[in-house]
Amino acid sequence: MDSFEKIASLAKRRGFIYPGSEIYGGLAGTWDYGPLGTELKRNLKNEFWRSMVQFRDDVVGIDAAIVMNPKVWEASGHLESFSDPLVECKKCHHRFRADQLEKSVCPDCSGELTAPKQFNLMVETYLGVVEGEKLKTYLRGEITQGVHVNFKNVLSSTRVKLPFGIAQIGKAFRNEITPGGFTFRSREFEQMELQFYVHPVRNKTWNMSAYQSPIDRISNGINPKEIDSMDWFEYWKEERLKWYYSLGMKKENLHFKEHAKDELAHYARAAFDIEYRVDGAWKEMEGIHHRGDWDVKRHQEFSKEDMTYFDEETKERYLPYIIETSGGVDRATLFFLIDAYEEEKLEGGDERTVLKLHPKLAPRKAAVFPLLANKPDLVKLAKTIHDDLKKEFVVTWDDRGNIGKRYRAQDEAGTPFCITVDFNSLEKNDVTVRDRDSMKQDRVSIKELKSYLVEKLK
Ligand code: GAP
Repeated sequence: MDSFEKIASLAKRRGFIYPGSEIYGGLAGTWDYGPLGTELKRNLKNEFWRSMVQFRDDVVGIDAAIVMNPKVWEASGHLESFSDPLVECKKCHHRFRADQLEKSVCPDCSGELTAPKQFNLMVETYLGVVEGEKLKTYLRGEITQGVHVNFKNVLSSTRVKLPFGIAQIGKAFRNEITPGGFTFRSREFEQMELQFYVHPVRNKTWNMSAYQSPIDRISNGINPKEIDSMDWFEYWKEERLKWYYSLGMKKENLHFKEHAKDELAHYARAAFDIEYRVDGAWKEMEGIHHRGDWDVKRHQEFSKEDMTYFDEETKERYLPYIIETSGGVDRATLFFLIDAYEEEKLEGGDERTVLKLHPKLAPRKAAVFPLLANKPDLVKLAKTIHDDLKKEFVVTWDDRGNIGKRYRAQDEAGTPFCITVDFNSLEKNDVTVRDRDSMKQDRVSIKELKSYLVEKLK
């Protein structure tokens, strides 16, 4: 089994992710998150929001509509250029993305393929109540445009000044030709993005060795209009990589891949992907794009609204450049699961599967067990502890099967701590706390349990 299959199996078994509409035979490219997956994805999005919006003075957040005026997609270039090359097998009529095929024949039946034609990925939808007069529009193909159309609204309703960013998390939809790799390529998915607006400086002579942190330079009094937009591009590349490290992703499984000129999206002047390594192959997880002034210029042209920024200090008026960081929430969730997944051989010949998720991402921080479910004194004390911890942490309760089985279930759920109430607890007011990764057990007094967990979960 490869990593995608192993994670898909664990995800279904433990309630992280299920196939979409499964009882009706599924719907290709759609997935439903179960109880554990919902918590994990929510933790991931919260971490993104905390580090990209709440911890920063130069970024604000918005939440724009999924369905937008169709002119947005004309302006953004998505109706014209957001496509992949599609080929069809003349024999079995299966369809493929031409750029993903290793050979020039059908991978399913070796039949001859048609010449590639561009297939637009935008998902159409219709709004309105009168048949024949419905407005044809689209489910957003990227969450980006909801930010750019609100650039002026944010400027006039907040106190932001360039350079600043607008972050957003939300669903996007693409009619992918070949959804697959579990949730890796879906037709409905979530993105977490930052659009960072900067002064339009771009020196032809800029190269990596010229990089200096723009944040340091601004705090040393340098005027932002002296700062090359490529410095911001480098800055955000590094920030995003550090974010994945900070949540425990293994460094050796992450790297940058630069887009060659002929690989750039229609809006990008430069692009790097943060790629994650799965079973030896590198896969895109997040894109960092220098979008130039593409979006604001096009929206100005198509909407006839002024999209320029006026700098009160220098009395300059200009269209800003945009540095974008665009991550997939579902892809990151999948790669965090793969990264955390371990099959371990234990002493005595046993094996266990464990998800060594970072405590901040773990769906539940602790599980509370009474040693025996049929001893009311143990159950009562364990319930008191559970209800008390619930006020501070996401905790769960388990009293089924033996302790060994409960540990295995919590290991697969990625729960960092298991707390057992036993007969000694009744006399000594303490509990056993078992660590998921080391499997070591500590005896902790009930009074100190909260502060013990706070310390360990840091
Ligand atoms: N706004 C820029 C943009 O959308 P992108 O490279 O097309 O750029 C950004 O997408 C990220 O969104 C990708 O790096 C990936 O993580 C995620 N993504 C894109 N298509 C996806 C799909 N079909 N299924 C799951 N995630 C996807």
